Amino acid sequence: MEQGLFSIRMRASAEGKHISGAERIIRREEIDRIVSDLRARAFSKTRQPDRIVITIDALPPGEITRLSALPVTTSPVTDLENARAAAVLVLQQAGVTPAVARAAIALLERGPSVYGGNMRGAVIMSACSGRRLEPDQERGVRVSRFDWEQGAMDRAETALAAAGLNHFRTREALVLATKVAHAPGVIAELCWSDDPDYTAGYAASAQNGYIRFPRLKSAGATTGGRVVFVQEQGFDQQLCVEYLERTPVLITWDKE
Ligand code: COA
Ligand code: AMP
Repeated sequence: MEQGLFSIRMRASAEGKHISGAERIIRREEIDRIVSDLRARAFSKTRQPDRIVITIDALPPGEITRLSALPVTTSPVTDLENARAAAVLVLQQAGVTPAVARAAIALLERGPSVYGGNMRGAVIMSACSGRRLEPDQERGVRVSRFDWEQGAMDRAETALAAAGLNHFRTREALVLATKVAHAPGVIAELCWSDDPDYTAGYAASAQNGYIRFPRLKSAGATTGGRVVFVQEQGFDQQLCVEYLERTPVLITWDKE
C-alpha cells in the first residue's frame, strides 16, 4: 500500500489556445518545489501564457502500477519518405495492417481532428480495419497520471544523453509511450509533434520498444498527433480510456 502521492498537472494557454503542459506524480513534501518548476516551465516558451492552471490531486491510496521504460532505438533513416516507410514496417511488426499504418500517417499529415487540424489528445484506431474508436474525434484521449519513478528520471536522462538524446521531449514522450504500450487492447502507437520546429517522431510498442525517427514530418509542418492502435476484437473502450486518462503509472529505468 502506497500513501501520500499526488498528481500535479500544469497547463498554460494564451487567448484560449493551449501552449504547454506537463505533469508529475510526487510526494507531499515535493509540492512547493514542483509547483515552482512547473510555473517556470509555463513561462519558458516564446509565447507567454495569459493563463496557467496548476492542479494538485491526492492519488487514492493503493498500489501504483510500475512499468519498465521501453528500450529506445534511433532509426538511422533520416529522409522523410523512407522514415515513414520504416515506421510502417515497425508498426506492421507489432501487428498493425500496413494499409492502416499508412492511413494513420496520412491522418497525422492532414491533421487528425474530425473537423480538420490537430486534436487535444490521441486517436484510437483499430489496427486491422483502421476504424476510429476514440469517444470524441475532435478532442481525442489524453494520456495522464504518469511520471518517472523517483530517481529514474536522472538515470534515464544520463543514459539517453549518452546515446545522443538530450531533448526533454524524448524523455517525456518515452514515459507517455511506455504507459500507452501497456494499455489494455493496445498494440502500438505512432506519434509526431505538432510543433513546427520539432520533426522527430516515434513508433512504439511493448513488443519492439520505442523506435525514434529523427525526421517523421517536414520542418515547419504544424500538424501532428498521436495514433494508438488497438486490437478491435474484444476491445473495451471504457477500460482502455480509463487506464490512459486516470490510472497512475510510474516508469522505472532498469537499464545501464
Ligand atoms: N492540447 C490542447 N489542449 C489541452 C491539452 C493539450 N495537450 N491538454 C489540456 N488541454 C486543455 C483542453 O482545453 C482541455 O479540455 P478538454 O478536456 O475538453 O480537452 C483542458 O485543457 C483541460 O485538460 P485536462 O487534461 O483536464 O487538464 P489537466 O490540468 O488535468 O492536465 C495536462 C493537463 C496538459 C498536464 C495533461 O492533459 C497532459 O497532457 N499530460 C501529459 C503531459 C506530458 O507529459 N506531455 C509530454 C508528452 S510528449
Ligand atoms: P506534442 O508531442 O506535445 O507536440 O503533442 C503532439 C500531439 O499529441 C498533440 O497534437 C495532441 O494531438 C497529442 N497529445 C498531446 N498531449 C497528449 C496527451 N497527454 N495524451 C495523448 N495525446 C496527446
